[in-house]
Amino acid sequence: MKIVRTREMEWQNGWDVISMMPDNYKENLGPADQLEAAYSKYLQKNLSIDPTTTFRGDFVDLQPGFADLTDAYHDSVEECFFISGDCTLSGEQIFYSNHYFWRPPGFIHAATSVTGFKALLFSHGEDESEGSGAASRVIRPSELAGTNALTDDYASALGPRGWIKVDTETLPWLTSEEFNVKYPELNGFSLGALSIKILSINPQTLAMSALLKFPEGYRLPAGNWGAGFRAFILDGELAVSGEFMESETWFETSKGEAHQGMAAEVGALIFAKIS
Ligand SMILES: [Fe+2]
Repeated sequence: MKIVRTREMEWQNGWDVISMMPDNYKENLGPADQLEAAYSKYLQKNLSIDPTTTFRGDFVDLQPGFADLTDAYHDSVEECFFISGDCTLSGEQIFYSNHYFWRPPGFIHAATSVTGFKALLFSHGEDESEGSGAASRVIRPSELAGTNALTDDYASALGPRGWIKVDTETLPWLTSEEFNVKYPELNGFSLGALSIKILSINPQTLAMSALLKFPEGYRLPAGNWGAGFRAFILDGELAVSGEFMESETWFETSKGEAHQGMAAEVGALIFAKIS
């Protein structure tokens, strides 16, 4: 199990981060002489990175007045869970706290923020089952915002999960029993009794992004992970295999791997990418 305790990490400034980006990304952020002013408002803590697929997850803290310098699209699915603040995406909508998107490749957008925002931001990277290509950023004219640069066929542009833009407060919580009736083959990810809110789901593979709510006093005996989790503790605390994790901690597990049990004395709310 990999654990990233973000409260123990310093925020990285975007201007420093640009130097670590793939060349096809950093050369496509906008006019070179404006990059420093724009990206010094982009703070992040890296949660996960996979050079093979180009998967990347960051905890980001964008400062008031942040604005992308250009509109662009990605060859990768981009996914975001907003924790606080405001974010306007051109061609889309304004996102606030507890809003979420899963955007298939190709859709043109630019982000601006009035008050700044905190979010979990993912570049899904190469994944055939999700119709997702490698991380990239390709500048397109602002008037094309909201359109797809890769195909004219809107239905196929949506990919298996669709283009999800949702206020997650309006989605229902499923009890473990309700979840098991809907998806018996997943067996509640072998997590016992908790509440699950599905944010996006791949109907072929049943890979999903979800909020998991562990009730106060939750306990799970030692066993094996029923799924691969890449998860961020939004609220509360979790102990996993004897490792205590406070909020703003990220952890990753592999399906089938053994764990030494879980506990959530005060309860916990996590955002999880589950496969
Ligand atoms: Fe983007």
